[in-house]
Order: sequence, then structure tokens, then C-alpha cells
Amino acid sequence: DIRESVEALLGRLTLADKIGQMSQCMASNFSFGGAVDSDPPEKLVAEGRAGSVLGAFDIRRVFELQRIAVEQSPHGIPLLFNGDIIHGAQTIFPVPLAWSCSWDMDAIREACAIAAREAAASGIVYNHGPMVDISRDPRWGRVVEGAGEDPYLGSLIAKAQVEGFQGRTPEELHEAGTMVACLKHFVGYGAAEGGRDYNTVDMSEAVMRNVYLPPFAAGIEAGAASVMNAFNVYQGVPVAANVPLLKGILREELGFDGVLISDYGAVDEIVQHGHARDAKEAAKKAVDATMDIEMVTRAFDHIPQLIAEGKLSESQIDDAVRRILTLKYRLGLMDDPYRYIRPELEEQLHFSEPHLEASRSLARQSIVLLKNDGTLPLSGDRKDKLALIGPFADGKDLLGPWQFSRYQHETVTLYEGLAAQGYAPDQLLHARGCEVRDPIEGGIEDAIAKAMQADVVILALGEESEMSGEAASRQSIALPDAQLRLAEAVTALGKPVVLALTNGRPLTLDWFDMHMNAILETWFLGSQAGHAIADVLGGQYNPSGRLTMSFPAHAGQIPIYYNHYRTGRPVTEANAGDKYISKYLDGPNEPLYPFGYGLSYTTFEYGELKLERTELPMNGTLRVSVEVANTGTRAGIETVQLYIQDMYGTIVRPVKELKGFARVRLEPGEKREVEFAITAGDLAFWSPQGGCAAEAGEFRAMIGPSSRQTREAAFELTEDEA
Ligand code: IFM
Repeated sequence: DIRESVEALLGRLTLADKIGQMSQCMASNFSFGGAVDSDPPEKLVAEGRAGSVLGAFDIRRVFELQRIAVEQSPHGIPLLFNGDIIHGAQTIFPVPLAWSCSWDMDAIREACAIAAREAAASGIVYNHGPMVDISRDPRWGRVVEGAGEDPYLGSLIAKAQVEGFQGRTPEELHEAGTMVACLKHFVGYGAAEGGRDYNTVDMSEAVMRNVYLPPFAAGIEAGAASVMNAFNVYQGVPVAANVPLLKGILREELGFDGVLISDYGAVDEIVQHGHARDAKEAAKKAVDATMDIEMVTRAFDHIPQLIAEGKLSESQIDDAVRRILTLKYRLGLMDDPYRYIRPELEEQLHFSEPHLEASRSLARQSIVLLKNDGTLPLSGDRKDKLALIGPFADGKDLLGPWQFSRYQHETVTLYEGLAAQGYAPDQLLHARGCEVRDPIEGGIEDAIAKAMQADVVILALGEESEMSGEAASRQSIALPDAQLRLAEAVTALGKPVVLALTNGRPLTLDWFDMHMNAILETWFLGSQAGHAIADVLGGQYNPSGRLTMSFPAHAGQIPIYYNHYRTGRPVTEANAGDKYISKYLDGPNEPLYPFGYGLSYTTFEYGELKLERTELPMNGTLRVSVEVANTGTRAGIETVQLYIQDMYGTIVRPVKELKGFARVRLEPGEKREVEFAITAGDLAFWSPQGGCAAEAGEFRAMIGPSSRQTREAAFELTEDEA
């Protein structure tokens, strides 16, 4: 029985041993920010001053440190090995923002399960992921790690990811091919002001609870064994020290009893924020907030003194260590510290064919077709002559941030992907044209020379991996100037031009929207990127991705998200020319490409929205349906989206909220009735007056292919039906 074993072990530990369990060190001198004043990992581990290790991306290093823990530390307690396995371990999958655009929970779950299998075979058993932060500001580089702007979709994806990494039942965490899922960053990190990483956050409790909290609640319900705090303040108090948020909402309200780990240096940073006099006071505040593990910094070394002064009690420390030891037992490490160190499994699993196939399949599904005048798909048997131009035409920077794969050099480039489809070298002309951020001497001339010989030009442009992810915020979210110049020069030739984008955030694409014949948003697609893009360009896969973040028409619209509140002076077609309304003088309110948007090589038509009745009793169900037909000539997948609007409430409600969707595959000419069931639970929201509840009154149900193109019908939420 785990509980008894934990109590017995806890009873034997000294206070110093306990603090050791609550401290994490780095496996090397790599730093995620700031120098850390600490002893080398070997010494910390041997002395029992570290209970977990971050960033040991080599099985030999894992073995080495585990052996020191088992053979030399005072109680021989095995270490946890932590890593950021954000979108794959060795086989790299699309970045999470990309895979969220698949809207395919099974495929996302499977990607996480594969990532866990590969990581666990190397001894990494504790993921610093998934990141489930809602993000509404594309300047923030970390949007690439999340599922976009919507709390409903974000919650489903959080659940799928937890189930993938950890398994669907608590017992599965004990199985050798799973790993701890850590929901991060609790909570509100995505709302950093100005999109600048680590910047301050100021939000109402209603926004925190209705927008940022739901994915965490869903992940906890799915059994996530760990949570990481956000770097920011919430209502003026750094989250790492925020008792109402961590002890109150996370532990007591959401019932989270797993391990709460600080983000890198976040306990120390309580001092930087100006909420503690020194590291000692920061440690007290973090422990009071129920923080269990301090990542890398050593503020917890002050705990003995804090206890001696009566500022902390040893029982608080025991609670934390109980949670940590319980996790070590659940993982099976206490019975066999080396059970995850499996070179033979690494051999079998890492970058294996089935894993690469799963990566390619999810990569195809993550691509979003943003514009197409019929230039795509490229002609089939009679192959057009292509000019493949740009820094991403034959480059391998297609994996995105947060990956530590040993197989980066095997990433399939777009050139290789097209060549694999049968384009001979003389049909596939190539020019780099420019670097990602800088011109190349003679680059444009070379590109023009190649483009002139081609039937179709493919411009492969984008952002480097380093331009998104942690500490990678941008003020402009346009493509760098050097690439724009290249695009202008090539476009001036008048040939059909297809833009294939590689990037980690929504970009401003207004110029490209006007001048390109087709635009494919391919994000960072992972190890098989080139094959996946070629599959879509050539029409072997009919694009089915739908955006999960709005693409602004102009950076001045940021933050921009579809589920915004109304204003007292909304702009309408009728009043657009008036002065005193909520609009810009120099551009639209609407994004260029909205949430939920994405095209296909076929066309879909929607019938009228049908409501079963116009009243929904609080204890009832309302069926709403629509007929969707594939009116084109190819089979395709349509993502039919259900939104609602609550017309008035004790606090104002968004103009639209996603409440359901169905991915339907239709053959040419096929029609399908797509039905959703709405209950009062779907209409509930948190308000300071009423807590979490649905309020009787008028609503709209809306169905369509994106958040912008919906048809609607009104209904009323009424009291319980007898
Ligand atoms: O997990 C990350 C976190 O998301 C940001 N800071 C560094 C950590 C390293 O594990």
C-alpha cells in the first residue's frame, strides 16, 4: 500500500532530507534564465539535496545520476527525471499550436502517448507539459506551445494531452511507457501585458475563471499528477506565493492533490516581483501556498530556519514530501529506480517508422489552407515545373522550439518532400532567395531566374524556431523585411505563387492575402514536415485544419480573439460611418482570418439551422442540427462548429463561445445531418454574484464552418421542467 510505505519512509527522513526531496537541480550547467548559485548536480544528489533533476537528455546521464542517488544519498531515494517534452521526444510532432488546428483529440492523444513512450525509455518520467495556457496575444512567443484562444477547445486538448502522456486511468502512470503530465502555467501566464514574456498580468477573477482556468480544471479532472505555477502575478501577488490561488482554488476547489512544482526560479523571483524581502521570506510564502518542488534555485534551503522561527511548521513540509514520495511510488521508482532506463527500448522506439508515420499524419492534419484561388492542389500526373524559393525551401528548421531530438538532421525538408512525390530535379528548381531575417547578396536575382522558368512558384517563408517559444516575444508579427522584399520581387513576375508558411504564431499577412494565389499555414510540423506539406500541396491530403487563434489584419488589433465581450457601442454595417462607435479610424475590427477558419480543396454547404424547440429547461437537453453537404469534387473533412451567445447576464457574456464541434468526412455529393445537444451545463459561467451557474434567459445557437460564418437561431433557457 503506497500510503503506508510513504508514511514509513517519511518517518525516517530528517528535515534536510525532506528539503532535498523538495529541491530540483539541473543535470548540467544549462540555464533557462539567470545563473544559479548552486553546487554541481553530483554533489547535490549524493548529499540528498536534490530529489529531481531537470534536463538530463541522455540515458547515460540519467543512469549516472540515478546511481549516485541510490548508492550514495542518505536514504537511497531514487530521483525523478524531468524534461520539457512539449511535442515529441525523438520523433518530433507538430508544435502544439499546430496540432490544436487538427481539432482531432485522438491524434493529439496518440502524439503525446508516443512522446511519453520515447521519453520514458530514456528515463525521463516527468514532463514539464502540457502547456494549457489560453493565449490571445500572438506577440507572446509561447502561443506556439498552447492550444490557442478558446477555453472549450483548450480544455478538450488539455484532457487529450494528459491522457496521452499519463494514460487514461491513474494506474497507467505506473506502466513503463507513460510519464507524469504537468499542467502549466497555473494561471494567467498567457495574458502577459504587451505579449512580452514574463511581464505582469492584470485580470479580473471572472476572466481568470471563465477563460484561463477551464483547461486546468479539465486536465486535473483527467488526472494530471503535477501542476507548474505561472511566473506572473495574479491580482498583485506572484502566483508562486499566491495562497488563495494555489491553496484555495487549485488544491481546495479543484481538488488537486498532486505535485506542485515551481517554474524555473519562480520562488526566488517572488523577491524580484517585490513581494518578499529576501529568498527566505519567498520560501515561506511559496510553502504557505503549498508549493512542493522548487525548480533549480535554493530558496527552500531556508526552511529549517523558518521552522525554527515558527514561521513554517514541519507538517507543511511533510505534506509536500508526502506528495512527492507518493509520485515516486506511483511511478514504480521506489521498487526499481532503473526501470525506465531502457536502452533496448530506445533502440526500438526512437524515431521508429510507426512513430514517424503518426507524426506525418498529424502534421498533415495540422496544416491550414488560408487562401486558394484554385492554384492548389498542384496538378497531378502532368507535373508542373516548380520554383521552390525561400529560406524554408530546403532548410531543416521545421521542428519548432522546445525539442531536443538527436534526429534533427533527419528532418524532411520541403524540397525532399516534393522530390519524394516524383518531381525530378529539372522540375524542381530551388533558390534560397534570402535568409530568414537578412538579405543574401544576389539572392533575389537567383530567385527571379528560377521563378521565370517555372509554372508555379512556391514561396517557403516564415520564422526561425528561435523566434517563438519561451523568451521569444516580438513587437511586429509580420514576416521579416528581407522575406517581404523577396516575395514582392517574385510576385511581380505574374506567375501563380503559393505561400507555404513555417512559423510559431499568427502573423500579419494582409499583403500576402492580397498577392498570393494560395496560402498554406504549415506552422512547425516536426520530423516529417516536408512530406506533410508536399502531401497537401500535391493533393494527396485534402487540408482540414482550422485555426485556433485569430490572425489579426493588423498588429494594432492585438489582443484579438473571437470570444470577446460586446461593447456599448458596437460597430455594425449600418453605423460603420458614424464617429462615436467602437472602431479604428484606420482599419477594421475584424481579424484577417478568424478562429475556426480553414479552407478545403472541396466545398461544403450548410442548410438551415434546426432547433428541436425554442425552450431549453434547466434540467433538459436541446437538440440543434444542420445539414452539411460536400458540394465539391473531392472527399474532405469539415469541422462543423457550434457556438452560443448568452444575450444578457449578471456579468456580460462574450459575443460567441464555442460549445461543440464535429469533424465529418464527406464524399463528393454526400450530405450529413450534424446534431449537437445543448444542456444548461454548457451555458454555465462564473460570476462573483452566482458562482458557477447558468442563468435563465435568452440565448442564440450558431453553427458554421468558422466563428465568422455562422447561421443562428434563438432559444430560451427556462426553469426546470417537471
Ligand atoms: O518547463 C519550463 C517552463 O515552461 C518555462 N521555464 C523553464 C521550464 C523548464 O523546464
